[in-house]
Amino acid sequence: MAVQDFEVKTIFFYYLFPVIALLLLLRVLKYLKPRLLACGCNAIETFVLCSVRNTEKVLQEVKRVLKPGGKFFFMDHVAAEHSSSLRWFQNRLNPLWKAAADDCHINREIASTINKIGFSSVEVNQFNLNTFIVLIKPSIYGTSVK
Ligand SMILES: C[S@@+](CC[C@H](N)C(=O)[O-])C[C@H]1O[C@@H](n2cnc3c(N)ncnc32)[C@H](O)[C@@H]1O
Repeated sequence: MAVQDFEVKTIFFYYLFPVIALLLLLRVLKYLKPRLLACGCNAIETFVLCSVRNTEKVLQEVKRVLKPGGKFFFMDHVAAEHSSSLRWFQNRLNPLWKAAADDCHINREIASTINKIGFSSVEVNQFNLNTFIVLIKPSIYGTSVK
């Protein structure tokens, strides 16, 4: 065996091969990570999306952890219809409400945010919360499927 031949084999097995194997392993791990971490069959929340800092980010995270076919059940108070007088009040009182109620927003369009996230199906039902606080009466409940 020529010396040059030996050197090429040595370089391949001791230097290039481990690097290639490591790169392949990293690619496999990158592919598997979201699948292995996706562990939830279903997720549920009630009246939390009004208070989170970034609704879209939270919903994306919910979708990420769900397995395909997993369901997300939600119930929240939401913004009243555009151009309604209640919406006008919600928009004006929101800063005050947020400060008084631990960062709760009374004018969030949560249904449209859920629709934007890219669930395979979204079912939203509207209802009026049984409360004397008119500002948080408009509400939704529903299910979205990953
Ligand atoms: C209006 S309370 C609802 C409490 C309860 N889920 C219920 O249905 O009665 C809103 C809650 O959301 C919680 N919250 C705010 N941001 C959150 C977040 N990023 N992750 C989890 N909970 C959060 C607040 O601590 C608060 O307890």
